[in-house]
Amino acid sequence: MDFIIAYPDEKTAFIGFFMTAASIQNTGIGSNIIDDLCRYLTDIRLSSIRLGWVKSNPQAEHFEHKNNLKETGITYDTDNYTVVVAQRVL
Ligand SMILES: CC(C)(COP(=O)(O)OP(=O)(O)OC[C@H]1O[C@@H](n2cnc3c(N)ncnc32)[C@H](O)[C@@H]1OP(=O)(O)O)[C@@H](O)C(=O)NCCC(=O)NCCS
Repeated sequence: MDFIIAYPDEKTAFIGFFMTAASIQNTGIGSNIIDDLCRYLTDIRLSSIRLGWVKSNPQAEHFEHKNNLKETGITYDTDNYTVVVAQRVL
């Protein structure tokens, strides 16, 4: 996990990239990590978590929706792909 605390504002944490090993994907570990992290961030009084996924990656999109991350409407373009920014209110 590429994790930035207090970005883009003091009450938000941002996950730039998140990946679990292929051999253990789809066993609930990714969702457990997100839930544990959200509980901790709530304890230290942050109010939201943001995450970006590469547009047209249905695996990532389904996972983020399952974990209550909703599109903010913000996207940004790199040379090779578009990143969709989603947020979960804690
Ligand atoms: C997306 C990812 C982080 C999820 O982690 P995980 O440990 O597999 O997650 P969980 O087991 O808690 O969740 C499973 C959900 O992830 C998605 N998923 C995981 N592996 C998948 C696969 N091989 N094909 C399709 N969807 C998959 C599904 O939405 C699944 O939901 P379901 O149970 O309703 O089918 C992981 O699959 C991964 O590292 N993918 C490659 C990198 C990536 O796309 N990262 C995106 C965030 S930047």
